[in-house]
This record gives sequence, structure tokens and C-alpha cells, in this order.
Amino acid sequence: VAKPTSPAHAADGVVSTQLMRAALGRFASGVTIVCCRAADGSPVGLTVNSFSALSLQPPLVLWSLRNASASLKAFRTARHFAVNVLAQDQLALSRRFASSAADKFAEGQWASGRTGAPVLAGCAAVFECETASAQPAGDHMLFIGRVLAASASSVTALVFQAGHYRKLGEII
Ligand SMILES: Cc1cc2nc3c(=O)[nH]c(=O)nc-3n(C[C@H](O)[C@H](O)[C@H](O)COP(=O)(O)O)c2cc1C
Repeated sequence: VAKPTSPAHAADGVVSTQLMRAALGRFASGVTIVCCRAADGSPVGLTVNSFSALSLQPPLVLWSLRNASASLKAFRTARHFAVNVLAQDQLALSRRFASSAADKFAEGQWASGRTGAPVLAGCAAVFECETASAQPAGDHMLFIGRVLAASASSVTALVFQAGHYRKLGEII
């Protein structure tokens, strides 16, 4: 069994932000860009790896948005959002949507999905959702979406783990 890297646990039961980051970083995830429309109709989106499956019947997904995000108001107001699961060749898109760039939608192909929320071309999967709930959860806002439409493609998905983008490994 591999030794845990120190600090393995916090002495007083309060887990530091640093330890949370390190431990959470060990969890490999896909990478998504979650999009909605602001009240004025402009497209809004950001790179998100807190996305997760929640329920099959009814079909529900979840993700969380940090309270300090410039996109918070738009997502709280919007009735719909789209989760775009990135393909391996969409690394540049992931970087752009993780920045505070003024017009993240200037490059790359996208269109309004059936809810109006932006759907990006070339993704591994897309979940078009109605916002079922938005609740405060610590320093994030937890969004649960009811999936109204979904699509899946056979392109290889992008992976993120321990602070690095990665190529999907072998099947074992
Ligand atoms: C791989 C990756 C995953 C991320 N996941 C999240 C997330 O789940 N929630 C979040 O609020 N920010 C997440 N971020 C950070 C946002 O993408 C970043 O803060 C972005 O600038 C927020 O957009 P804003 O400028 O509109 O607030 C992630 C960034 C990266 C690179």
C-alpha cells in the first residue's frame, strides 16, 4: 500500500484548503464547459470538473460553481444550462473557458441548443438541462439539472487529474 503523502490528515479535524486541493486532485475527472445565457441573452460559460452523475430516473446531474465566479449571477438567473463534456482535442477550449477572457465564445463553433444554452461542437457528450435547484453549499453554489436532452459521441474524452490535463489510458 502506497504511503499517504503528508500531511495525511489534519491534527485538529479541520482539513485545510491545501489538503483538500491535494486530496481532491487525486480524483481523476473528465472536463466540461457548462454554459447558459445571461439575462441579456449573451452566452456565458466556464470550465468545470465538479460535474457528476446524480440520478437516472429522473435523469439528474450536478455541478458546483464558486461563489466568487463572475458567472454566478447568470447561472442563478438562467432557467437552463448545458454541460459540454470535452473531447481530448478541446484542451485549448478548456483553458480559454477557465480564464477570465472577455469573449470566451469568439473562437470555436457553438450553437444554441434546444434550451437556448450554448452547445459546443465536437464534444464527447452534451447534457441540456433545466435548473432543478440551486443551493448554497459552502463557498460554492450547488446546481442540480434535470436533463431534457443528451447526446454522446465516440470521440475520446479529455481527462484532468492532479492539476494536469491527461490522455485517457488503456482499458485494464
Ligand atoms: C479543470 C478545471 C476545472 C474547474 N472546475 C470548476 C468547477 O467545478 N467550479 C468552478 O466554479 N470553477 C471551476 N474551475 C475554475 C473556472 O473555470 C475559472 O475560475 C473560470 O475563470 C470561472 O469563470 P468566470 O471568470 O466566469 O468566473 C475549473 C478550472 C479548471 C481548469
